[in-house]
Amino acid sequence: MTLEGKVALVTGGGSGIGRGTAVRLARDGANICVADIDMDGAEETASMIREFGRDAITVRANVAAKPQVQEAFDRCVKDLGRLDVAVANAGIGRGASVFDMELKDWQDQVDINLTGVFLTVQAAAQRMRDLGNGGRIVCISSLAALNTGANTWSYSATKAGVAMMVRGWAQELGPHGITINAIGPGVIDTPLAHALAGDEGGPIRTNLEQRTPIGRVGRPSDIAGLISFMAGPDGEFMSGSYVLIDGGIRDARPPMAEDPNDPRVQEIMRHQATGMARREKLQPLIDAR
Ligand SMILES: NC(=O)c1ccc[n+]([C@@H]2O[C@H](COP(=O)([O-])OP(=O)(O)OC[C@H]3O[C@@H](n4cnc5c(N)ncnc54)[C@H](O)[C@@H]3O)[C@@H](O)[C@H]2O)c1
Repeated sequence: MTLEGKVALVTGGGSGIGRGTAVRLARDGANICVADIDMDGAEETASMIREFGRDAITVRANVAAKPQVQEAFDRCVKDLGRLDVAVANAGIGRGASVFDMELKDWQDQVDINLTGVFLTVQAAAQRMRDLGNGGRIVCISSLAALNTGANTWSYSATKAGVAMMVRGWAQELGPHGITINAIGPGVIDTPLAHALAGDEGGPIRTNLEQRTPIGRVGRPSDIAGLISFMAGPDGEFMSGSYVLIDGGIRDARPPMAEDPNDPRVQEIMRHQATGMARREKLQPLIDAR
């Protein structure tokens, strides 16, 4: 019970990683404020928490709207009595090619993934400073802060921004006894990432499992466990960090490497053969030092 008597607010707590986190922090002993735009999801999370005897309240808050975020934190402090942990988790994905990206999709993604994290952290930090008990803030970035692609560049931009904002904020928050860190999940099986994670037993999932060194897709509880560490007593000296948690997939073989008939794979093999021939030619010259 590392968080006995503490209070945590989780944005996007009505689904996926946010729900897993809200439930985990409650199991660690905390009472929870679940903030979301989806109140059905938020209520479901709150009932899961109440089932094992913790207090849970729900607040409708769009993280892109400053008054709603401020109100959510005010409700949390008023109804649950304090604020010790804030998790800026709410986020969306709006992938598209640079030719086709709609301005509205770009704007929504920036408003929620970047401005939403800023507004959440600002509201949390103001209250933690004023209450004077320090605090722990965790922001959900992504593996996509490090890797990107033709359809994920805009999502990546927001997630890289989160990792960098956290480093700057750590400088100012530390003297108030507040730590702040970013987490970079890999592929976690949630409604947001279902197209990437695929169905259990299906071809996408099997391919993903084969390419992931740990041999399985990520679960919300994997991320929640790391958040629990950051929020608990052992996390006291950790601030300004970005922690990747992806089962090792960042450096895994690309999917095409598994199909020898793929023309791209054949090209790679040709280049490898040329490279090997060149190496054999040069090696005696290298050895003749
Ligand atoms: N699932 C993954 O593989 C993965 C990987 C890396 C990072 N992430 C990040 O983790 C976070 C959680 O994602 P998830 O996979 O659990 O997604 P999810 O879609 O299952 O859950 C997201 C929750 O956020 C809420 N939400 C969306 N917009 C909101 C807004 N404007 N204000 C308040 N709440 C809002 C949704 O209603 C939902 O309950 C996101 O920031 C996402 O970018 C996910």
